[in-house]
Amino acid sequence: MITAENLTELKALLEANYASLPLVTKVTDIVHGEGSARAEIMFIGEAPGYNEHVQRRPFVGRSGQLLRLTLNEIGLPPELVFISNIVKARPPDNRDPSPEEIEAFRPYLNREIELINPKLIVTLGRFSMAKFLPEVKVSQVHGRLHKLVWQDKKLFVLPMYHPAAALRSTQLKSTFVKDFSRLPKVLDWIKKQLELEKTKDLIGQALY
Ligand code: URA
Repeated sequence: MITAENLTELKALLEANYASLPLVTKVTDIVHGEGSARAEIMFIGEAPGYNEHVQRRPFVGRSGQLLRLTLNEIGLPPELVFISNIVKARPPDNRDPSPEEIEAFRPYLNREIELINPKLIVTLGRFSMAKFLPEVKVSQVHGRLHKLVWQDKKLFVLPMYHPAAALRSTQLKSTFVKDFSRLPKVLDWIKKQLELEKTKDLIGQALY
């Protein structure tokens, strides 16, 4: 288990352990998650591509531009957002990450999620969706909010198509944009639910 107390410590730990990680031959191969430590929404993609590897930032290539443009268009302020990946180094030739690679980065991603404690996790594509919803296909559940228990904690997860898939098909792109346009309302709804639960807990405590 990783006990880093904050994101800076977590990054330092990941870098200190770089030699034990797959896909990493030098510290600078690592592409850390990016965004506010107090983000309300955490986006999780698959793995860095060429541009992400070069710039050492997640989602800055073509699919990243679509993601960031769409977030801008729906008016989601950057300080509400954190962007990360299942695997934090580039697989050669942008191949799919292997189960072993996903497993090696899993404790770091899990700690990242714990530290940020987002109100909503948006999965981008099948690899990050499978972390929380292993039995389904993106085409069946995209845009549908899921409430689940993950590591003994209630979590809201919203699976979305990967922006790279949206770039490959005009039809998927409009679905992607439509799903994203609902995000602000979904976040508001979640906030209300969390407030309600807090109130219920307080009432429960007062009664006992
Ligand atoms: N695709 C991903 O899944 N992640 C990135 O950071 C870039 C492209």
